[in-house]
Formats: sequence, structure tokens, C-alpha cells
Amino acid sequence: MEQIVLQSPFDMHLHLRDGEILESVAKFTAQSFSGALVMPNLNPPILNVEDALAYQKRILKACGDENFNPMMSLYLTEKLDKKELQKAKEKDILFIKLYPKGATTGSENGVSEILNTKILEILEIAQELGLILSIHGESNGFVLEREAEFHAVFAELAETFPRLKIIFEHLSDRRSIAVVEKYDNLYATLTLHHISLSLEDVIGGALNPHCFCKPILKTPKDKDALLQIALSAHKKFSFGSDSAPHLQSNKENAKGAAGIFTAPILLPALATLFETHKSLENLENFISGNAQKIYGIRATDKQVKLIKKPMTIPQVIEGIVPLYAGKTLAWSFG
Ligand code: NCD
Ligand code: ZN
Repeated sequence: MEQIVLQSPFDMHLHLRDGEILESVAKFTAQSFSGALVMPNLNPPILNVEDALAYQKRILKACGDENFNPMMSLYLTEKLDKKELQKAKEKDILFIKLYPKGATTGSENGVSEILNTKILEILEIAQELGLILSIHGESNGFVLEREAEFHAVFAELAETFPRLKIIFEHLSDRRSIAVVEKYDNLYATLTLHHISLSLEDVIGGALNPHCFCKPILKTPKDKDALLQIALSAHKKFSFGSDSAPHLQSNKENAKGAAGIFTAPILLPALATLFETHKSLENLENFISGNAQKIYGIRATDKQVKLIKKPMTIPQVIEGIVPLYAGKTLAWSFG
């Protein structure tokens, strides 16, 4: 049977939650990936090193795989200071996540004025320490223009801190590609859903809350342009799933939580997508090689085997509706 073996895949944007949900979802990522960048938007958020290390321990316990590397991040607020950032560096916590206040799930404690003196001071220290700044890049304007309206902030930050690596997370708008290409210190992540779906899938027929996320899926042209970037394994872009589990009841019943759960299906879905577009040879760079270079992380000896055998995605997994529920993929885990 036809098969592919993927070497050391990385997921550079992941929500694992905590408690029961963490216990039920961690295994999906640990089975497929060598490591993942774990987002700090818990309730309450991960604001300091001590909490990040304790959370990392809970993650390792939940996934039951010591070889899985959960790379931790700190939630940026004005309270972060030099001492804490130095401690983070010492403990190998190399990522800071910036959420504009109110932009998405768990951003209530986010930054309300990004270019203020206090935040700029923190970023200066982050630059000196060689930390990496990951940003949810959306304004609080009209929903379809939020990402584009945020470009000016990326430009300002990239120019002010030329030695700070900045990651433009989960690109959704094709106009953002040129911004990433323009600045040497600016990189980006791409999700499976933003390269395979559009707003049509959210509101084109019956409202589909399971395809609702921030940033919102955009036009088919945006999806196609972002897909081309992924298929060509453009060196400034790495894979970050933004798998964001919410219990079915919190997505339906008018609760409308933003976030799409993809962790259990990622690699078979990516293989199916890349093969359909005759680009399977670029998949490994997209999910591994690019991340190694951009983030300076090392491959592990983990290998994930996929086989050319249909895989039908369950309607519900651990109480959560996954992306592509009920659909059949051409590839499955070997
Ligand atoms: C994420 C979540 O649920 O934590 N939601 C989402 O729509 N992507 C937060 C985020 O990354 O924006
Ligand atoms: Zn996210």
C-alpha cells in the first residue's frame, strides 16, 4: 500500500486548554507531532514562568509521551518585566503571545494599546534576550478588514525591533502575504482551515458554527492564495494548526465560541490536500523544515507514517465536533 513517512512534524500554534479537555485532546497532537507551540490563553491566562512550567507538566502528563515537546508561551500584558523575561529564557520558554484585547477567545486580558511605552519596553527586552513574539494580528474594526487593518502595527514593530523575530499568526487574508515578505524579521503560520475553506463554508448554506474561528475565514481568493503559499512550502511560513477545541454545546446553542478543532485529523488532511494539488513532496518542509529554520528548533527522530487508505472523520470526538466531521480523507494514520 502506498505510504509516506513524515519526519518530525511541528504544530507551531496550538490550544490544548486545561483540565478535562486537556486530558482528552493532548494525545492527538502528541501522536502526530514532535512538538507544538502551546498558546497561553487559558482562563486565567499563563502570565508567568511558574504557571507556564506547571502547565507544561500537566500537558506532558496528559499526553503520556515524554518525547513530545510542548513549547510554552507567556501571555503578554503590561505586567511582564525584565526579571520574568530573563527567567523565561533560562527555563527555555522562548515565546511571548500578544493578543489585542477582545480580538478572540481568551483575549480579555490582552493588550489594549499595542504601541504604548510599557509594551515597547517589554518588546525591547524580548529582542535583547532573543525571544520570539507571536501575534494575533487583528484590529477591532469591521470583521473582514481586521487583519488588513493590523498591517501597520506589524510594519511598525518589525521596523522598531529589527532583531526581534515576529510571527504573524494564522494568516487569513491574501493581502497579508506581501507584508510577511517585506520584513526580514517577520514570519507567519498557516492553519489547515484557512488554506482549505472560505467564508462560504461558514455562512454559505446553513450556518456552520464548527467552521467559525478568529480570524474569520475569508474569500475563496484568499484561501487559494494562502494554499499556494503552503503548497510551495514558502520559507517564511510554517504550519500552525490553531486547533482550538470547544465543547459541542459551546459552539452550538447560540453560544458561538470561536475556534476550530483539527488536532485529530491534521496530518491525513494535509496529505490529502497536498496530494490533490500534486505537492506532496513539499509537505515535510511545510510541517517541519520551515519551523526548524524559522524558530531554531531541532528535529527529533519521531516519524509519522500515513497510508493511502480512506479515513472517515467521526461526527464528534471527545465531545467536540472536529473539522471535516463526516467527510472521508484519502490518507489515514498507518
Ligand atoms: C482560539 C481559541 O479558541 O482559543 N480561537 C480561534 O478562533 N482561533 C483563539 C485564537 O487563536 O484566536
Ligand atoms: Zn489560536
